[in-house]
Amino acid sequence: MLKTKMALDVEKIRKDFPILKVKVNGKPLVYLDNAATSQKPKQVIDSVTDFYENYNANIHRSIHKLGEQATAAYENAREKAADFINADSGEIVFTKGTTESLNLVAYSLSNELKENDEIVLTQMEHHSNLVPWQQIAKKKKAKVRFAEIDSKGELKTDQFNELINKRTKIVSVVHASNVLGTINDVGKIGKIAREKSDACFIVDAAQSAPHMKVDVKKMNCDFLAFSGHKMLAPTGIGVLYGKKDLLERMQPFLYGGHMIKEVTFNDSKWNDIPWKFEAGTASIAQAIGLGAAIDYLKMAGMEKIAQHENELAEYAMEKLSEIKEVEIYGPSAGKRVGVVSFNVKGVHAHDTSAILDSEGIAVRAGHHCAMPLHSVLGITASARASFYLYNTKEEADKLIQGIRKVIKVFK
Ligand code: ALA
Repeated sequence: MLKTKMALDVEKIRKDFPILKVKVNGKPLVYLDNAATSQKPKQVIDSVTDFYENYNANIHRSIHKLGEQATAAYENAREKAADFINADSGEIVFTKGTTESLNLVAYSLSNELKENDEIVLTQMEHHSNLVPWQQIAKKKKAKVRFAEIDSKGELKTDQFNELINKRTKIVSVVHASNVLGTINDVGKIGKIAREKSDACFIVDAAQSAPHMKVDVKKMNCDFLAFSGHKMLAPTGIGVLYGKKDLLERMQPFLYGGHMIKEVTFNDSKWNDIPWKFEAGTASIAQAIGLGAAIDYLKMAGMEKIAQHENELAEYAMEKLSEIKEVEIYGPSAGKRVGVVSFNVKGVHAHDTSAILDSEGIAVRAGHHCAMPLHSVLGITASARASFYLYNTKEEADKLIQGIRKVIKVFK
């Protein structure tokens, strides 16, 4: 049941997000596409503006004042990212986003893979945690195996006991599904992986890190990836967490810039970690924006954010389940993040989304970069509402009214 008093001061939070005042198609914006990207508070926008207005310079190169200031701010953002997931700053590699983080790991670890090695994933992976492994497996003649989901959209976690063996070199799983919302028991999966193999255990936290407390030590994962833009920060910045010894062992993915220590005509030496993996000019303003976003999320409180989104998901699902034309995918609200995918029976998800858009309601429709998962669900597309800390129960009500309009138009 929805608790009458929400833990977050949502009205106060909403005032920090300028875009929430925008009208779409003449209606107040109801932004429910947070799993695709989140909106940005003034504090984040200001931190980026401040950088460009007051101390814009390249980092780790120039000795002048601005260069030093920019370097300090960038490295300070790394400290914040490390603290956010309970890691050391030397274990935080800045990337463009989750996709680049996962590709970086896959590319680097592929050097250690050989024929008949096995990679274990799940049926609910985003393409970013499936395609890199699939392509590497083809090249190396390795095998990819998938843990299945059950009829409720939950992972059959016990299957990992059969899937993982001495040949398993990689176990890479999504923490929270971007379609089903399902929160997977990554602690348990990691434990099985360690008991049964020497595999590297990788977690895709793109849909969890923005919404709940994530602790890499508790998870005991080797790598973890997430994106800034889904957690109030700008696009173009993401994190790859990696255990120190593994980052030391791994080869870089891109060459040039401050990932270099020394170059001769015949050979090169790499910088220390984490810089070894940060080639070219970094996303400096974006990293600083990520630092400001982390400050904001910590101020709001990750536990409160998780609870708030859970209450909204539960409320929306309760209302949706009263509409017989609607099919909801994934487990009960208690077992998911604030992501609710659904279809209005007989109506294409794109049409559902277009009608909702006419009411100012933004949801995503399509396969959500998870085509294999949709094939398991027996559908080609779904509509997806995804909540964040600034969403309200009234907005969930507008979503339901919008869906009733979809039914009226198409039935
Ligand atoms: N991965 C993002 C989503 O699920 C873009 O929408």
